[in-house]
Amino acid sequence: MQEYESILRGNLTESRYDHVCAVSTCAGELADLHGLDRGKAELAGLLHDYARDLPADDLLRIGRARKLITCKIEEQLPVLLHGPVGAILIEDELGINDAQVLEAVALHTLAGPAMGKLAQVIYIADLIAEGRDFSAIGYLRNTARENLNEALLECIASTIGYCLERRWIIHPQTIEAWNFYSYGNREEGI
Ligand SMILES: [Fe+2]
Repeated sequence: MQEYESILRGNLTESRYDHVCAVSTCAGELADLHGLDRGKAELAGLLHDYARDLPADDLLRIGRARKLITCKIEEQLPVLLHGPVGAILIEDELGINDAQVLEAVALHTLAGPAMGKLAQVIYIADLIAEGRDFSAIGYLRNTARENLNEALLECIASTIGYCLERRWIIHPQTIEAWNFYSYGNREEGI
């Protein structure tokens, strides 16, 4: 992991670097609590925002070249591509080829239906790690320790609610994730 420190410090702003370290620690703790591989969780946490500070033009260029654009929203808001672009880049540039880690990085912003457990942990950890502060944070942190499925649903709800309050656009992939995991589909979805 230490080998990535200088690369990340070069790619990310200082506050973003602190954030990925916090997500790595939080993801490692959640992995321990829920029987997942701690090392993989820490690695995915550390690398999840690998492409977050790339300029929008680069995100779009890579997104188009690697066929990562799924709808017009990404053309309007290229920052939404930093997950899938990050997954491509950590494979190309760092040689990371663990499918679970790549999925976790790809889905950490928008979520998606049928996410693997590691991807769920990173999505949750990104929201509740040290440094995050919003009204539901205590509830989400407790829920994440006790029940990963519940925490995932609550984190997706929190993200959608945040967007709705601000009258922001919601990416269809996040809606798909919500519909997949929401209570009506719980038996199939989780
Ligand atoms: Fe991110």
